[in-house]
Amino acid sequence: MHSQRSCTDCTLSCRHNMEIRENKFDADAFMLLWNAVWDGCPSREQVTAALAHSIYRAAVYDGDRIVGMARMIGDFGLCYYIKDVIVHPDYQGRGVGRMLIETMLTFIRTHGVPGTDIAVELCAMPDKMPFYAKFGFAANEAQRMRLMCRAEGMT
Ligand SMILES: CC(C)(COP(=O)(O)OP(=O)(O)OC[C@H]1O[C@@H](n2cnc3c(N)ncnc32)[C@H](O)[C@@H]1OP(=O)(O)O)[C@@H](O)C(=O)NCCC(=O)NCCS
Repeated sequence: MHSQRSCTDCTLSCRHNMEIRENKFDADAFMLLWNAVWDGCPSREQVTAALAHSIYRAAVYDGDRIVGMARMIGDFGLCYYIKDVIVHPDYQGRGVGRMLIETMLTFIRTHGVPGTDIAVELCAMPDKMPFYAKFGFAANEAQRMRLMCRAEGMT
């Protein structure tokens, strides 16, 4: 499914034709974007499993080029968690991140149990918190806790 959106935040004379594509991007695209901004990309096998079990994925394309992505894990009832929001450095500051978050929130509004309020969560580094605050996200007193658990497979 495709939905056309314009690159309204581009401050340059906009030559781009940004388009959201839903549930399309694959492990190669994920790894390409991850490697453009961070070290230590997870293995292709892990990424493939993660994408297969995400409830929603959205990416922004400039023509055939993927320039940003986000995905959501959740249960359609109580829990929605936005993960892996990445905009390629060449395209940051042009409204791509906004397109991704607004698309994620639209998905939740249209798929959650009607009439209920649903907590949408994500994890943000301190310098990215002002970006998420623009959409209404706010920190609370809860702290992120993490354990790296070694998977051993079925015996
Ligand atoms: C964070 C990130 C997703 C933002 O995407 P982006 O496309 O650059 O953001 P946008 O251009 O859509 O910005 C939307 C708004 O947020 C603001 N904004 C973006 N990044 C910001 C930041 N770090 N601090 C404060 N404001 C920010 C923009 O100024 C813009 O404001 P406006 O709508 O009032 O003009 C992008 O910088 C990125 O991918 N960074 C590397 C990966 C990363 O850290 N991801 C987040 C993991 S927590």
